[in-house]
Amino acid sequence: MSQAPSKPAPPQSPSNLDLNNIQGDILSGLPKKTETYLFFQISDAKKFRTDLRNFIPLVKTVAGTLKDRDDISKHKQGTVGGKPPLIPMAGVNIAFSHFGLKALNINDANLVDTAFLGGQKLDAGANLGDKGTGSGPSFVPDWEEPFKKDIHGVFLVAGDSHDTVNKKIGEIKQIFGVGGHTPSLTEVTTIVGDARPGDQSAHEHFGYLDGVSNPQIIGFDKNPPPGPAPVRAGAIILGKDGDANKDKREPWMVEGSFLVFRYLFQKVPEFDDFVFRNRLKGPGMTDQQGADLLGARLVGRWKSGAPIDLTPFKDDPELGRDPQRNNNFHFTAEQNFQKLCPFASHIRKTLPRADLESLGISIEKNRIMRRGVQFGPEVTKAERAAKKTSQGRGLLFACYQSSITDGFQFIQRSWVNNATFPFAETTPEVPGLDPLISASTLTDRKLSGIDPNNPSTELKLEDQWVVPRGGEYFFTPSIKGLKEKIAA
Ligand code: HEM
Repeated sequence: MSQAPSKPAPPQSPSNLDLNNIQGDILSGLPKKTETYLFFQISDAKKFRTDLRNFIPLVKTVAGTLKDRDDISKHKQGTVGGKPPLIPMAGVNIAFSHFGLKALNINDANLVDTAFLGGQKLDAGANLGDKGTGSGPSFVPDWEEPFKKDIHGVFLVAGDSHDTVNKKIGEIKQIFGVGGHTPSLTEVTTIVGDARPGDQSAHEHFGYLDGVSNPQIIGFDKNPPPGPAPVRAGAIILGKDGDANKDKREPWMVEGSFLVFRYLFQKVPEFDDFVFRNRLKGPGMTDQQGADLLGARLVGRWKSGAPIDLTPFKDDPELGRDPQRNNNFHFTAEQNFQKLCPFASHIRKTLPRADLESLGISIEKNRIMRRGVQFGPEVTKAERAAKKTSQGRGLLFACYQSSITDGFQFIQRSWVNNATFPFAETTPEVPGLDPLISASTLTDRKLSGIDPNNPSTELKLEDQWVVPRGGEYFFTPSIKGLKEKIAA
């Protein structure tokens, strides 16, 4: 009996990930000079499903993103002299909140995650420490108005320019009938993020190189550079080994990932002023060098990205840009001590490496894949002179994980906002709070370890330089999940 010719199998990576099924931002990061987040509410569930079917072909998968990245690098290599113009290119992804799935009458109980099922508004007070009024279920965070509404979903549209991205957004709006007589969704708010200009393009607004350390995925990342142990795909992707709830996942959940979005404003002139006033002092050290050293100790890396665990007293830009070396440290040289890197520095709080691993505690389930982008203008001369922010700028923080309660929420609640972490009983000093992102609602905000020669000296955190003004928890389904469940 002859068989009908079967379709060629989709490309699979050795970790058994279907790269044509997983949305692109999760594992390969949509290439972006600019990225728009369009948040929406579903207004007509039946029509939304039909429209979604027409939208799905626009979604960029991991395979598509890898191809885009390949095209970009070939384009760069093929250019003789000077900087080549960017290739016009847009990547689209989509994610849904619990409220969106509910509006579509989809039972998402087996997504299991309590943070996702409750939504970020509910989490903001009790678990994240955001400012707000009321308590318990009636807590209202001090956020921008649109984020106080129930957001059902978000389109992520990244690209080389506002032009390309806006054209793509036009296409999306047309598919869902926005601006016509029968829209199936309404826009709640749209936020545009942009890479910073010139040599600051990969740096966040305080000036530090960002996106240096992200988990390497076993079987997907071919030659992981030296650094923290690579993780099983299930730390980030649902339904794979390493996902604690793998057995509970329904087929439409497999190869999806939870997306955490946080709208974080940064008070840059105020931060710079604080760092300068509290600068470290030492023989032969200029005021600026003292300020740079303090800043590096607050973050755990110099502005170039060089880790202070490897170069504690002087920036080393070459080390900062060398992926073979810039993540190759574990805080092992100073177990229980913080001469090289303060316990509470942003990177030691958010990824304690050997502080936990040497005690036999795995941090695989706490790893997150960060995909943020900056928003807002550069600091103006007037703001710098006044040492006061007058224009909104910051980070559209985004990260993926297979569990928000073990990933983002855990990091923020149990590490960042916990003054005694890592484990004060084994350390001579109380670590204190993450100086960048700990909650302003905590009392006695301070950290130790800022002076390498006197680690018990504490620095009072006078202000909160990162202010959360919105956010939501989403689920980014696979292409099959979109087709076979959400649009079905
Ligand atoms: C405006 C807010 C923030 C700023 C300015 C900021 C800045 C940075 C910088 C400069 C780095 C070092 C470079 C790198 O490894 O990529 C970093 C790393 C990191 N950040 Fe943030 N961050 C912010 C918010 C957050 C939030 C909200 C979280 C999660 C709760 C977070 C988690 C992490 C993690 C996990 C790392 C990598 C640590 C490592 O692997 O060594 N960050 N951040």
